[in-house]
Amino acid sequence: MQQATHAGSHKLGTLSINRMGYGAMQLAGPHVFGPPKDPQAAIAVLRAAIELGINHIDTSDFYGPHVTNQLIREALHPYRDDLVIVTKIGALRGADASWQPAMAPAQLEAAVHDNLRNLGLDVLDVVNLRLMFDVMGPVEGDLEEPLSALAELQRKGLVRHIGLSNATAKQIAQARGIAEIVCVQNQYNLAHRGDDALVRQLAEAGIAYVPFFPLGGFSPLQSSVLERVAAECGATPLQTALAWLLQRSPNILLIPGTSSVAHLRQNIAAAALALPPAAIAALDGIGATAA
Ligand SMILES: NC(=O)c1ccc[n+]([C@@H]2O[C@H](COP(=O)([O-])OP(=O)(O)OC[C@H]3O[C@@H](n4cnc5c(N)ncnc54)[C@H](OP(=O)(O)O)[C@@H]3O)[C@@H](O)[C@H]2O)c1
Repeated sequence: MQQATHAGSHKLGTLSINRMGYGAMQLAGPHVFGPPKDPQAAIAVLRAAIELGINHIDTSDFYGPHVTNQLIREALHPYRDDLVIVTKIGALRGADASWQPAMAPAQLEAAVHDNLRNLGLDVLDVVNLRLMFDVMGPVEGDLEEPLSALAELQRKGLVRHIGLSNATAKQIAQARGIAEIVCVQNQYNLAHRGDDALVRQLAEAGIAYVPFFPLGGFSPLQSSVLERVAAECGATPLQTALAWLLQRSPNILLIPGTSSVAHLRQNIAAAALALPPAAIAALDGIGATAA
């Protein structure tokens, strides 16, 4: 059995994917801007992910921009039938590498076409509307216009399923009145637990929750409790952080990011790591103190 299958699968609309996936953002250059130093190494990571059973890759055309999508295409096209590529639209990169909102209907349409072209696809499996009312985190704002524009692109057959990213519970409720939402991608990990209630609500609604920065993002998680629990479980701290997420709720799907095949193997191996109740209780305490 391939390792990524060990954590089971979950539905994204009509699609079924392994709960252990891969996030491609780390494949672009420094600050997610420009090409990586070694494009062949990035391609090797993508091919290794597929060999290890990954069938869910998270990406965006604003990583690079265009770089990660072009690497995915070069490494994996023509794609396996079971591969689900989830992308996101709603932002643009400035010449200074800044992240800027791009949620006007014409910008969203152009972004869908950019993703289709750069990935070499006729239809995008899942498109997350990345809300940019604030780049750093969810902030209330009306999403009717941008989400209606994305729903129109879905009606035209360019997009199979729709998700949201960087969204509040209120925005998700508004969105569900406009389109079917299959996943929500917000920041969440052992030490960043602001979405605890939302994860539960989405599980009840059958909607996947896909935490970004599952390992803590650009500065991976560090905690003495995490180190102790990991040593007791015979795993690395970051494997333990991923296993905690998998056990947190059955609707959580993982997309840890890495530019290294060695790290990729470690991360995917966490799909088979079962944490005992005492370990979960100790890890739960990290978020309680960090919150
Ligand atoms: N919707 C959004 O707004 C949003 C925002 C950010 C990210 N995302 C998505 O979420 C995905 C995951 O987030 P992320 O990649 O930023 O953060 P992450 O998965 O929390 O962590 C990535 C960082 O951890 C390091 N790392 C990964 N595996 C490791 C290991 N086994 N041992 C030691 N270090 C390890 C990586 O460095 P190495 O490359 O050296 O392994 C990188 O610095 C992204 O790829 C992207 O697809 C979405």
